[in-house]
Amino acid sequence: MAKSCFPKCRPGKIMGWLQIMLGGLVIIVSISSLFRFYSAGFFLHNEDICRHFYGTNVVYEGNIDLESLTSRFQEVLDKMERLQDKLESIVQRMETNGDDVLRKTNISRFEHKKFLEVEVIRPLYSAHIALRQIRLPRIENATAREDPLINAFVVEEIRKYITPKENRAAKSVNIYGTERVYNTIGHACVAMKKELEEYMDYDVGSYCKDDWILGQKLMIRGCDPLPRRRCLARASKLYLRPYPINESLWRIPEGRNVRWSNYQCRNFECLSSKNPKRGYSKCTGCFEMEKEKFKWITNTSLPIDFMIKDVLSIKPGEIRIGLDYGVGTGTFAARMREQNVTIVSTALNLGAPFSETIALRGLVPLYATLNQRLPFFDNTMDLIHTGGFMDGWIDLQLLDFILFDWDRVLRPGGLLWIDRFFCKRKELDEYMYMFLQFRYRKHKWAIASKSKDEVFLSALLEKPPRSL
Ligand SMILES: *[C@@H]1O[C@H](CO)[C@@H](O)[C@H](O)[C@H]1NC(C)=O
Ligand SMILES: *[C@@H]1O[C@H](CO)[C@@H](O)[C@H](O)[C@H]1NC(C)=O
Ligand SMILES: *[C@@H]1O[C@H](CO)[C@@H](O)[C@H](O)[C@H]1NC(C)=O
Ligand SMILES: *[C@@H]1O[C@H](CO)[C@@H](O)[C@H](O)[C@H]1NC(C)=O
Ligand SMILES: *[C@@H]1O[C@H](CO)[C@@H](O)[C@H](O)[C@H]1NC(C)=O
Repeated sequence: MAKSCFPKCRPGKIMGWLQIMLGGLVIIVSISSLFRFYSAGFFLHNEDICRHFYGTNVVYEGNIDLESLTSRFQEVLDKMERLQDKLESIVQRMETNGDDVLRKTNISRFEHKKFLEVEVIRPLYSAHIALRQIRLPRIENATAREDPLINAFVVEEIRKYITPKENRAAKSVNIYGTERVYNTIGHACVAMKKELEEYMDYDVGSYCKDDWILGQKLMIRGCDPLPRRRCLARASKLYLRPYPINESLWRIPEGRNVRWSNYQCRNFECLSSKNPKRGYSKCTGCFEMEKEKFKWITNTSLPIDFMIKDVLSIKPGEIRIGLDYGVGTGTFAARMREQNVTIVSTALNLGAPFSETIALRGLVPLYATLNQRLPFFDNTMDLIHTGGFMDGWIDLQLLDFILFDWDRVLRPGGLLWIDRFFCKRKELDEYMYMFLQFRYRKHKWAIASKSKDEVFLSALLEKPPRSL
């Protein structure tokens, strides 16, 4: 490429380009370092949050966290220094062994060297020195390391909860090999301090308020994990024996086994899709078993609807455990159970008792939000099925984090079944890229129109081996 250009290019042009390239490099290096500082949010006016976050040892001048500024500053300096060393060594190399490409052109090596020295290295050096001469206020070293977040809260129960618990024998290690146990809460809890304090306001050992819905609100908005509490969760007035498993899978559970006070409905009949006041919008019809019974076993003749038997026949006998990530009442897990496959179904109680219903059907509800890493180890699941909750609303970067997490827990040869994902037609390419980036083997792939400008995508993909 470069060679074919040289006969045509004039020396001045080459010099110009070189200048632009090197200049660009310097600017990129400096900006990228500083950018990280800005993007960390230190110039946002969330002084209080920052202060809470880092305890009281952080030194603030105006709104600036000096410690972070200093470390970023040092990073820029280090990068400039390295760049300078590199350039100087290039110049040295030019002196010793002439460059083939340069020899063929009319610009003498001398000119190049001079250009580098005068136009690049010297300005870089003086910028470097100028930066070094800026005096940042000194930071006093934190005396004792404080545990994160504790000082963000005044309510005693929260403070007790997040204070690390030392092992009983001093300095000994426990079964995990650690000296203490940290209880965790989501960092966004700090932003919802008022709600969290309300949630943590109870008498130890007594009955909790009937406030799981407040807890769920906190979790969904990022206060996740939520602190554990030392009060007794309320149950329904009556709890009747659940139906035996040969009946429970396909039967609407006993309504009295659900505590209805935080739902718009007061019984299962009210949750019918025909009722406009049912109180939930995702997965309408989920509570009607006569409809649920047809899912994944009948041919709808739509290419986007795969059947369980076809999917399992791709890996006969190999699919034993999996995760159903979505909103629903456990029908997928129930069907899979009949195939001797154990499925854990994620469930949040978004306006209807999804978790209770799944559990009463004799299946495992996993009360988990989108916020968190899945509580499974790497390369463990045979199958991840997803449908019903992820669609075109989801931020692409968020989706990326989720998909990488799924990839992590899926075992080599495991199947990712994307079931009726939908988005705007014009955004399909972006989402397709997200799913295809992992280079899974495509067993099934189907796209169908949902409406004039929306489309459905279903796919069955297999994770390849990764024996690195
Ligand atoms: C290169 O320089 C020589 C003399 O120094 C000159 O004769 C020749 O035309 C120049 N070539 C180009 C492409 O400028
Ligand atoms: C602060 O601590 C760091 C390491 O933790 C140490 O390198 C530095 O010398 C200390 N500075 C002062 C002023 O004590
Ligand atoms: C379920 O199993 C129990 C015994 O295990 C049996 O008595 C009952 O009739 C079964 N119910 C149905 C609907 O098959
Ligand atoms: C589903 O039905 C369509 C026609 O209605 C047929 O072409 C297709 O092969 C059927 N698929 C299966 C898996 O039976
Ligand atoms: C599931 O397991 C049971 C007991 O091992 C067996 O009788 C049944 O045929 C299996 N079902 C399927 C669909 O493989």
